[in-house]
Amino acid sequence: MPDLKNEIKKEVSRRKTFAIISHPDAGKTTLTEKLLLYGGAIRLAGSVKARKANKYAVSDWMEIEKQRGISVTSSVMQFEYNDYCINILDTPGHQDFSEDTYRTLVAADSAVMLIDGAKGVEAQTIKLFHVCKMRGIPIFTFVNKMDRASKDPFELMEEIEQVLGIRSYPMNWPIGTEGDFKGIYNRKHSQIELFDGGAHGQTQVSSTVGKVDDTIFADLLGSHYHDKLCEDIELLDMAGDEFDKEKIRSGELTPMFFGSAMTNFGVQPFLESFLELAPSPGIKTTSNGEIDPESDKFSGFIFKIQANMNPTHRDRLAFIRICSGKFTKGMTVKHVNAGKDVRLSQPQQFMAQERTIVEEAYPGDIIGLFDPGIFNLGDTLYEGNGNVRFEGIPIFPAEFFARVSPADTMKRKQFIKGIDQLSEEGAIQVFKQIDIGIEALIIGVVGALQFEVLEYRLKNEYGVSLRVQNLPFRHARWIENEGLDPRKLNLPSTSIIVEDKEGRNSILFENEWSIRMAEERNKDLKLIDIATQD
Ligand code: G4P
Repeated sequence: MPDLKNEIKKEVSRRKTFAIISHPDAGKTTLTEKLLLYGGAIRLAGSVKARKANKYAVSDWMEIEKQRGISVTSSVMQFEYNDYCINILDTPGHQDFSEDTYRTLVAADSAVMLIDGAKGVEAQTIKLFHVCKMRGIPIFTFVNKMDRASKDPFELMEEIEQVLGIRSYPMNWPIGTEGDFKGIYNRKHSQIELFDGGAHGQTQVSSTVGKVDDTIFADLLGSHYHDKLCEDIELLDMAGDEFDKEKIRSGELTPMFFGSAMTNFGVQPFLESFLELAPSPGIKTTSNGEIDPESDKFSGFIFKIQANMNPTHRDRLAFIRICSGKFTKGMTVKHVNAGKDVRLSQPQQFMAQERTIVEEAYPGDIIGLFDPGIFNLGDTLYEGNGNVRFEGIPIFPAEFFARVSPADTMKRKQFIKGIDQLSEEGAIQVFKQIDIGIEALIIGVVGALQFEVLEYRLKNEYGVSLRVQNLPFRHARWIENEGLDPRKLNLPSTSIIVEDKEGRNSILFENEWSIRMAEERNKDLKLIDIATQD
């Protein structure tokens, strides 16, 4: 047993599991590829790009993915670097698929926030950032595309603070930000890394006196750039935040790096600092106290369910984030929510497009299990005794709604089956209108494109054509007050009362203004925008 404990301890300490959050086009695919290259996964890296660029079979299961050149599902990429074992949770980049992206963040121990230097903090980054903030995970910022003209770096720091409410600590500082990029100054090592126009090699020049005003740098950069750099660094040292590991760990301070993923500039130093500072899998809270990742009892939770990934054999996969102990192929564990033992055979690990059978896995790793229809989002698997359950997975509020029914009423049974499946995957939220007796269900999605996915999948997997009537609502709010009869509320005439799949009352609103009006008219009403999956 001590051997197993030591083995788990060692594997936990070398694991880093993270997701990249960004707005489409900021360079996530490019950065992911470059990171994988450092792990020696060259072929894999190529496939990330190909998947997006749609150069060959992008996905074998959904035509929509191919047609649009976007990835609908997320997978995990694992690679080794300097004795670390790194799991990148790949998240769908297109803004229409953010429900899945949100949920994937629940399985990450930290996040890399990728920002386009010229555009600053963009809409989707803000949404995803808030999920990370809510979970209190550390966030590392990489400001990309510095080879081009960018915003002033002080302005970017200010923007991050104003828009996201987090302070930043620049680990390095760009030299030349008006399309005349010269390189970066590494604050920790008093070192300049020269940009050579993207020839991949990097020239590093260190200060001989350990200070930014070393004449070696003046000679290297010329006085124009060197004077500006000295001024900037002096200002940062004087007025900026201090480097504080604790604050980084608690998500109060984000270490900030400047670079260019495309030219592979600043990626390796970023990766190395990230690995040093990012947390390994930590203690997790359950209904029955805390679980230490180093415990010898396996535990994990299901954060993603995906059906019909391969049309030739209808499979359904449940993705598990391992939280403690050691996973071994074929082991029997307790499916806590169902109160049953299950044997974990044929576990799959995902390396971009490739599936391999996993023999063993450790905390921080993600495995996919064939699911005969017994798993639900948020379920706990546990090797020990006791009613241990991980915290539920939040449901993110849908922003688009439509009344959906089968075009052919004879197909109602298959329709319900398909809707149930997609709802179990978390791809859609199902509501029933309760203030009038209407048959059609209301479906809510986080991105409008998901209606297309819904139509496509129901047609292809269940043989059901849909009738979709778009509704003007943009917000769902759950009613927190217990025992309150929603029909008695004084609501704006443009809102409707619905019930979610668990029978919880919520209200659909057209805009923020009507939410405020509902709250003002009904002083005791408590509305929340995120409900938790039980
Ligand atoms: P995403 O996954 O976040 O959507 O972004 P992706 O990596 O696909 O990058 C979006 C575009 O930005 C791509 O250009 C990519 O080459 C470019 N890019 C990424 N990193 C950098 C960088 O550091 N500097 C510069 N200048 N550009 C960068 P594209 O023209 O859309 O695609 P492609 O023709 O290069 O494939």
